[in-house]
Amino acid sequence: MTTQPYLSELFSLDDRVAVVTGGSSGIGRAIAGALARAGASVVVVARKEADLIATVDELAAHGCRAAWVSADLSTRDGVRLAAEKAVEAFGEPDILVNSAGINLRPPMAELNEDVWDVTMAVNLEAPYLLGQRFGPGMAERGYGRIIHISSQQAHRAFVQSGVYGVSKGGLESLARSQAEAWSSSGVTCNTLVPGFVMTALNARLSSDPEKVAALAARTMVGRNGLAEDFAGAAVFLAGRASGYVTGQSIFVDGGFSVH
Ligand SMILES: NC(=O)c1ccc[n+]([C@@H]2O[C@H](COP(=O)([O-])OP(=O)(O)OC[C@H]3O[C@@H](n4cnc5c(N)ncnc54)[C@H](OP(=O)(O)O)[C@@H]3O)[C@@H](O)[C@H]2O)c1
Repeated sequence: MTTQPYLSELFSLDDRVAVVTGGSSGIGRAIAGALARAGASVVVVARKEADLIATVDELAAHGCRAAWVSADLSTRDGVRLAAEKAVEAFGEPDILVNSAGINLRPPMAELNEDVWDVTMAVNLEAPYLLGQRFGPGMAERGYGRIIHISSQQAHRAFVQSGVYGVSKGGLESLARSQAEAWSSSGVTCNTLVPGFVMTALNARLSSDPEKVAALAARTMVGRNGLAEDFAGAAVFLAGRASGYVTGQSIFVDGGFSVH
């Protein structure tokens, strides 16, 4: 017996198109790679062209179909432009991953309106606008997967959660609202919740060995997260196997949240 057709039925992303924001770095880049290697044609969206090109080159080297769009998701026009440019490569997406995010971490008393606005724009409004742009089409076609990336800080406050925690709490609520709207049309909407993951976003913390060790000790697995830890969960949530999973926040955190 060969397991291949069975696994393909559950997990293959052949003929699917995915848009991954923040797909040029960290968790988003690992997810873009995973979806592409599972068969999807992937468009990565971020600002810095050099990182985008390096990502697409790496995917092409694995024989994957990939394209990039440089856009600033902190403005509504930027998001709209990103969406229109993203569909030029492979058509309307079946899978939308919102991994682009920022965490500016000012102390609460110093949190000003500019930091509030840009954080809410990138972390929450862009996922909302992209959902509005792509969700109805997915529903019409009868298949769609929307995957958000939130944070422990959607659930508890620490290391200056400020507006970042607010935006991520909203993001998990957005997933539930989208799930309510579109699940009956075959579009599931879920959130992956990382713990502490060693990426550029965390450069300040991850360059301090004592803090890194202390955070690792708070997990059950005994180490901090790596971007690759999100590959399997993303492929699962993007594929047919997860058709009855929707509106959920799924923790990929080595047990951090339950320790
Ligand atoms: N690392 C962690 O421990 C951790 C924990 C919890 C949650 N998360 C969440 O996981 C997601 C990915 O984080 P990461 O750790 O992988 O971070 P990362 O390595 O810093 O990647 C962030 C990505 O977002 C893009 N981006 C940022 N601002 C943007 C903008 N205005 N317009 C378009 N793209 C923008 C960046 O590219 P450009 O700079 O080129 O635009 C980059 O591709 C984020 O939503 C983050 O909040 C991370």
